[in-house]
Amino acid sequence: MKATIAVLSGDGIGPEVTSQAIIVLQKIAAKYGHDFIFNEAPMGGIAIDQFGDPCPDSTIRACEAADAILLGAVGGPKWSDPTAPVRPEQGLLKVRKHFDLFANLRPVKAYPALAQHTPLRPELLEGVDLLFVRELTGGIYFGPRQEQGDGDTAYDTELYTVPEVERVAQVAFRAAQGRRKKLTSVDKANVMASMRLWRRTVVKVHEDYPDVELDHVLVDACTMYLVTRPASFDVLVASNMFGDILSDETSVLAGSLGMLPSASLGSATFGLYEPIHGSAPDIAGQGKANPIGTILSAALLLRYSLGLEAEAKTVEDAVDAALNSGARTADIVARGASFISTTEMTQAIVSNL
Ligand code: IPM
Ligand code: MN
Repeated sequence: MKATIAVLSGDGIGPEVTSQAIIVLQKIAAKYGHDFIFNEAPMGGIAIDQFGDPCPDSTIRACEAADAILLGAVGGPKWSDPTAPVRPEQGLLKVRKHFDLFANLRPVKAYPALAQHTPLRPELLEGVDLLFVRELTGGIYFGPRQEQGDGDTAYDTELYTVPEVERVAQVAFRAAQGRRKKLTSVDKANVMASMRLWRRTVVKVHEDYPDVELDHVLVDACTMYLVTRPASFDVLVASNMFGDILSDETSVLAGSLGMLPSASLGSATFGLYEPIHGSAPDIAGQGKANPIGTILSAALLLRYSLGLEAEAKTVEDAVDAALNSGARTADIVARGASFISTTEMTQAIVSNL
């Protein structure tokens, strides 16, 4: 198959990790006889430096011409001045919104090989395999706001409509049907009107998926359950901001934020794939970044945008094999033990493809 992939490497460790995912995708293309074309386009701080715009029109057009987007990370101290008129993160939000990528899938599993590395007791991690479905184009990220704090008041608004909740709930229920048939909806219905709308909409959508068991948890309790009984979850669905916060918490179960991939999907196969970690300016350029989150994002790209399930599984199995053989980047190494570089981790994965 022939496919075009727009590559938005972005800032900080972004280029270091996207380049590694491209190496893996090229190996997959060679192994399975595919032809992948990679088109790099500026995004984030680097695009602000070049164009004064974190997501110029040329980048949107490069994405429109592609079958999928692979993204590294955006942001950094250089562009973090709170009074700056434009911010790198706006570029990412613009792409998500422009392509209506309303469902953000964040699969999390505990790796037995890394169990010793997490702060949780190993027995709590047994069987942890969950999927976060985060609403991505609505809620407080996009509600009415006062952009600049030029007075004494600033606000952001959590705003959801029934169709917005319906469509992300449908994605979550369908995902649960393909897994262990359990869905947990996270909200704050005891306080927020928008979250009461969320809950009653999820309950209504449930009528179409009677084979899935649904429960509701309040977000504050959810933070606790994710570390006290993480293996009890199958699929979770949450608003944009709750999903953002909880998925970082959940990354602890996998051993490191650097391990986790994500897929942002709309109603067709086009999607944006990125690790859930940020640009990590503190370690940029040192060869210390863990490329696994981005490489696993490339696997999701193969699965969801290109429909190449066997190829996706090959990448995921190669990551497992590399970890089982002891390959460790700095973020997942036992204290005092030696670790390998970003590119060495990629080689360990590639050698298992
Ligand atoms: C994420 C990030 C982004 C978000 C930022 C960079 C805008 O934290 O993808 O989780 O908040 O969505
Ligand atoms: Mn986040």
